[in-house]
Amino acid sequence: MKNVVQSERRVFQPGATIRGAVPRVYLDHNATTPIAPAVADRMMVALRDEFGNPSSVHHFGQRAKSALDEARSAVAALIGSDASEVIFTSGGTESDNFALRGAAEALEVTGRRHLIASSIEHEAVLNTLKALARRGWKTTLLPVDTSGIVSPAALEAALTDETAVVSVMHANNEIGTIQPIAELARLAKARGALFHTDAVQSSGKIPVDVRALGVDMLSLSAHKFYGPKGVGALWSRRGLRLVPFATGGKQERSRRAGTENVVGIVGMGAAAQLAAAKMNEEAARLAQLRDRLEDGIVRVVPGTAINGARSPRVANTTNISFDRVEAESLLIALDLQGFAVSTGSACSSGTLEPSHVLKAMGFPPHRTQNSIRFSLGAANTEADIDRVIAVLPGVVEKLRSLTRAPVRA
Ligand SMILES: Cc1ncc(COP(=O)(O)O)c(C=O)c1O
Repeated sequence: MKNVVQSERRVFQPGATIRGAVPRVYLDHNATTPIAPAVADRMMVALRDEFGNPSSVHHFGQRAKSALDEARSAVAALIGSDASEVIFTSGGTESDNFALRGAAEALEVTGRRHLIASSIEHEAVLNTLKALARRGWKTTLLPVDTSGIVSPAALEAALTDETAVVSVMHANNEIGTIQPIAELARLAKARGALFHTDAVQSSGKIPVDVRALGVDMLSLSAHKFYGPKGVGALWSRRGLRLVPFATGGKQERSRRAGTENVVGIVGMGAAAQLAAAKMNEEAARLAQLRDRLEDGIVRVVPGTAINGARSPRVANTTNISFDRVEAESLLIALDLQGFAVSTGSACSSGTLEPSHVLKAMGFPPHRTQNSIRFSLGAANTEADIDRVIAVLPGVVEKLRSLTRAPVRA
């Protein structure tokens, strides 16, 4: 029991120091965020007191049901929708799968068997498209330009009368670029296709309004905005038919069977409320920290370049290439110094895969394999940023001394 209490305190303070150990700075908020203390408090109430099955008619069931309703309204308010259009899921991955597979299956009978997505989507979309391609669906991946943006002209050229669904993410997880969703959705719908956007990295960070975006489906995930992991939502426009994954009970208006994850959903609702209240102020604070970080790194480390810098971006994200430095080595060296960052490249079976996002942006290997993502969040301060700027020149210099090629300007 004591261990649980101790570890709980550390979860709430990602920057906290364990006595005698390296002070830790968490700069990987796009991977996941710590649960906000107020969210955890609200979840504890649900865990203890709202244990009833929301489908039960008695007092205990109805208490859990009203906790679900409250959370559904909070998530709906975050994205400008009606509560009845929000379907709770197990996270962003399930929401993306549900949108694409559910819509594809519903539209199969109409003869529309073509799907379009951008080439910089998360694997939750890309691998779902691949799976549907193996089942006979035609798929098209849209290119992006060097600033990481999908051009409306490219979508227009790819659309056909057979296109069933177009999926383009709102904000990219690796570089933070924001796509012109409203314009892309308008083009798709003019050709009779449905439009889905993965808003996992934008919701809670920038205003998201499903009506203004003009989309049909939108994915969210709680753990990207200080809520718990393993819970998310798919917003689906009223009247839209999606074929559900699982057969079973009539939960979520028969769109997702299975007893609801009440504690997780309550946490998502509390996190949505917090995000809506703090969004503008926090985005302005994080933009200042992000600019301080970028200016500092470019100033003190030669051979660096900011990826996607010229595009509209979410305030907390920056992706930086370090010439002649393997990203994985830099990540490990920074971790040893107490800084948690991330690389867009996936290390699979001992070989370093270049980032598919930077590759799609047309960058050469020395940039796709040498990039680090810093994603800032609630606990970060100017002092954290200044410390990472102070540490980086030495770390990079040391790594570069191990290779012989000259640094590119
Ligand atoms: C853009 C994007 N989509 C989907 C996901 C998957 O969300 P989840 O971890 O909730 O399954 C992520 C998570 O990294 C993401 O960044």
